[in-house]
Formats: sequence, structure tokens, C-alpha cells
Amino acid sequence: MEKREQLYEGKAKKVYATDDPELLIVDYKDDATAFNGLKKGTIAGKGVINNQMSNRLMAKLEEAGVPTHYVQELSERETLVKKVSIVPLEVIVRNIAAGSFSKRYGVEEGVVFDQPTIEFSYKNDDLGDPLLNTYHALALKLATAEEIATIEKYAFQVNDFLKAFWLSCGVTLVDFKLEFGRLSNGTIVLADEISPDTSRLWDAKTHEKLDKDRFRRDMGGVEEAYAEIMGRMEAHL
Ligand code: TMP
Repeated sequence: MEKREQLYEGKAKKVYATDDPELLIVDYKDDATAFNGLKKGTIAGKGVINNQMSNRLMAKLEEAGVPTHYVQELSERETLVKKVSIVPLEVIVRNIAAGSFSKRYGVEEGVVFDQPTIEFSYKNDDLGDPLLNTYHALALKLATAEEIATIEKYAFQVNDFLKAFWLSCGVTLVDFKLEFGRLSNGTIVLADEISPDTSRLWDAKTHEKLDKDRFRRDMGGVEEAYAEIMGRMEAHL
């Protein structure tokens, strides 16, 4: 597949056109940002890990019945994906209180929920990705009611799968963010990535953080945590 012109550069990935109008190439960078781009840095080797981890998880999710944009891994950092128009919602599923949930509602990090929660943010950097509900999303015409129902169903399916998968690796899935897109025929598929950038992953025994919170919170050992979580995944595939 021929890599054509760059279409887009995001905070962590670049996107290129291909000969096929329905397919794109994603190229994962080592760049890391937090707090809507306010904090900037590099996590050496992150692009390779996020690319490979996301691809393996999406391939497994396809098998489990969740359609995704994933087509084929092309290199350490590059993947062929189906072209989608991204639904401008950040879909966050939580099993345990942490991060903005803990802050907003005054709940200690680590409190385990009886059942998972789901929330949406409006994917809009200028506005700082504000939290919104389904009614707001409909009013803003970000998605249809049917699309939102599909997205919620898939998001909980992804949670069921990932929770069990990570547990088999000795890792607790605290929370994660997903993005969905529409194929040219309107079908909703899981897009973007599933990685330690977009998930909170804690060692099941020690609760040591094995994700991007180490970068966000200046905890050190960032590269080591990414390597550790990738190693755990490889040992259990
Ligand atoms: P939060 O607790 O800061 O809202 O984050 C919830 C989850 O979403 C966490 O796993 C990190 C992920 N996340 C992203 O992937 N991108 C973002 O821009 C933010 C704020 C969070």
C-alpha cells in the first residue's frame, strides 16, 4: 500500500492518504501531551508500543464482535486503517474512580464501582473537551440517537473484553477513552487507539500505575511502565 500525502497531524499520530480512498495509514509518534496540550514531552518507544498494543487489542475485539477500523500492521509504527469520519465524542468508561471523576465528585482514587460508568466529552480542543450528556450531543448534532446507542453498546462490550484480558495479565483496568468513526456507508466502528495513553492500567496486586498518568503526574519511570505493560500483554497473547 502506497503512502501518499499527509492529511493530518494530531498530538500522538500522523495520518496519511493511500491509493485507496477508503484506507489511511496511521503513523504513531513518541510525542506525549497532557492537559489539552499544555504539558509536552517525549516518551521514547511509545509510538511502537501504542501501535502494536492497539492493533492486537482491536484484532481481538473484532473476533469478539466489535467492528474496528483496524486493517493491517505495516511496520513498527505504521498501520493501515479504514477511513472514517470521527464522531466528535470522547467516550470514557470507568470501573474504578480516578482522574477527573475523583476530582469532580470528590471520590478517592481507587474506589471500585458496582457497575461501570460511561460518559461523553465533546471532542473539541478549543473548548477543552467539555463533558456533555446524550441530550447535549443530540442538540449539537454530534451523532444520532441510534449512533449513540450503538456506541454505548460497543463501549461496554470493549470494557468487558479489556477488563478480562488485562486481568489475565495481572493488570486492573481502571478506565479508558474510546473514539468511534463512521465508514463511508455510515457504519459505526471503533477507531483511534487503545493504549496506555488512553487507559489507566494498574498492577493488580501493587496498584502501581503502568500508564500515561506517570507522565501526566511527573512520577518518573514512564518508559519503563510502557515497556512493562507491553511485556505483560505479550506474555498473555
Ligand atoms: P480523566 O479521568 O482525566 O477524565 O481520564 C479518563 C480516561 O481517559 C483515562 O484513561 C485517560 C483517558 N484520556 C484520554 O485518552 N485523553 C484525554 O484527553 C483525557 C483527558 C483522558
